[in-house]
Amino acid sequence: MIELDTSSLDLTRLPTHVAVIMDGNGRWAQRRGMSRIEGHKRGKDSVRTIVEATRKLGIPYLSLFAFSTENWDRPHREVNALMSLLRRYLRSEIDRMMHNEVRVVAIGDVARLPSSVRAELETAIERTRDNGKLTVGLCVSFGGREDIIHAAQALARRVAAGELAPDAIDEANFSAELGTAGIPDPDLLIRTSGEMRISNFYLWQLAYTEIYVTETLWPEFRETEYVAALADYQRRERRFGRVLEASPSDKLGAARRA
Ligand code: FPP
Repeated sequence: MIELDTSSLDLTRLPTHVAVIMDGNGRWAQRRGMSRIEGHKRGKDSVRTIVEATRKLGIPYLSLFAFSTENWDRPHREVNALMSLLRRYLRSEIDRMMHNEVRVVAIGDVARLPSSVRAELETAIERTRDNGKLTVGLCVSFGGREDIIHAAQALARRVAAGELAPDAIDEANFSAELGTAGIPDPDLLIRTSGEMRISNFYLWQLAYTEIYVTETLWPEFRETEYVAALADYQRRERRFGRVLEASPSDKLGAARRA
């Protein structure tokens, strides 16, 4: 298990669900005169570290944007390398996941994955299904708009079958048709490598999520950077569109003015 310095954190106020856009593998490699694929390989080590750190902190949900629907348009060689890394990651980590009671779920259009990757993923999902300490959502061939369209289609089918009235569509039954059904919305989104974009990641789920963007490239995002992101999150004031309850002195002032 990795060493974590948590002295800057309030361990009673950690997020329940952290989502990560792992960006900057290509830039990390190119700056070193290496191929983009080398960057992805190094990025895989960051994945391992962040999964272990999340487990160690006791955060119950982690989502990793590993491959977007748009990533299929990258050169074949790079797509193949990413698929092979995913397969090798699942194979090499499964025993450690079992030991650490980590559950793997896939979020996205898994049917588009090559059969060898799909098989490895299905094995990991099946073997880890009863693990209860941490759920890792691997977002593969995932697009936020596609996720919403699939949910709309599923609800439309229920309406057409007469099972659901159009006015009965609400946030709860819509959420239940998304790839993240049963998983709470993220409290914190981390994006590495400085881009201020959602890039078609979770569109519905990020409605009230705190966003943390760091210039650090994903292959260099390790324990220290993760703890810094969590400490920053703990300094935020989450209002969910409401105003904060008036402080006792405000209440006193209001009483005096009344
Ligand atoms: C973005 O970097 C990253 C990806 C497209 C894929 C993320 C994949 C990994 C971290 C490796 C394997 C994953 C797992 C789950 C084992 P980029 O290529 O867009 O970087 P750039 O913006 O600098 O070009």
